[in-house]
Amino acid sequence: MACRIAIDGPAGSGKTTVARLVAQKLGIHYLDTGAMYRIVGLHLYRKGADVKSESLRDYLTDLKIEYVDGTFMVNGSPVGDEIRTPEAGMYASIYATHPDVRAFLTNMQKEICKNRDIVAEGRDIGTVVIPDAEVKIFLVASPEVRAKRRYLELIAKGYDVQYEGILREIIERDENDSSRGIAPLTKAPDAVEIDTSDLSVEEVVDRILELVHLRC
Ligand code: C5P
Repeated sequence: MACRIAIDGPAGSGKTTVARLVAQKLGIHYLDTGAMYRIVGLHLYRKGADVKSESLRDYLTDLKIEYVDGTFMVNGSPVGDEIRTPEAGMYASIYATHPDVRAFLTNMQKEICKNRDIVAEGRDIGTVVIPDAEVKIFLVASPEVRAKRRYLELIAKGYDVQYEGILREIIERDENDSSRGIAPLTKAPDAVEIDTSDLSVEEVVDRILELVHLRC
């Protein structure tokens, strides 16, 4: 039996750091679905696609995303840091509301997660991508704690950003992600919620590993 671990939660809840570490400790695959939405968001933005269009399929035909060892190739080239900017996060969140974008990526994600030991993180992993995952985690933290984490992360990477702007962007993205009609950010009824506001990364990882050992 495969061990599939779904980790969902809002922006800055610690998903990426925690999911990567859990995958590393278990020696299994890691899937960052947010990166896929960022790739598509940036692609559609650059093409000037209108999110209100009934169909976005034509814009997606020349976009080839390949999953290679936990990261992505986009039309044959490794994905770069341009998907990590706050703007790319906002484009991801905007275009992620469109059914064509969700169908395009959800199908790909389901295929990647099939019959594999994997840690997948995102917003709808436990509800849509792997609804029968062996372990489901929902990470939460206050908007202020999440904004501070993102701020420090971006500053360390050399971006010129302001804390207030990041906080505003996080609150706006939460609103977008939770209120959309399809696959909104929600906790699966059988997911275990962990508030990471006052926990260290190691503490969160240990809690998840305990659950993995019980269920896999
Ligand atoms: O996780 P990350 O912040 O990189 O995700 C960027 C955006 O992509 C999210 O704000 C959300 O709108 C979208 N997303 C999604 N479903 C996922 C992963 C990300 O809608 N499974």
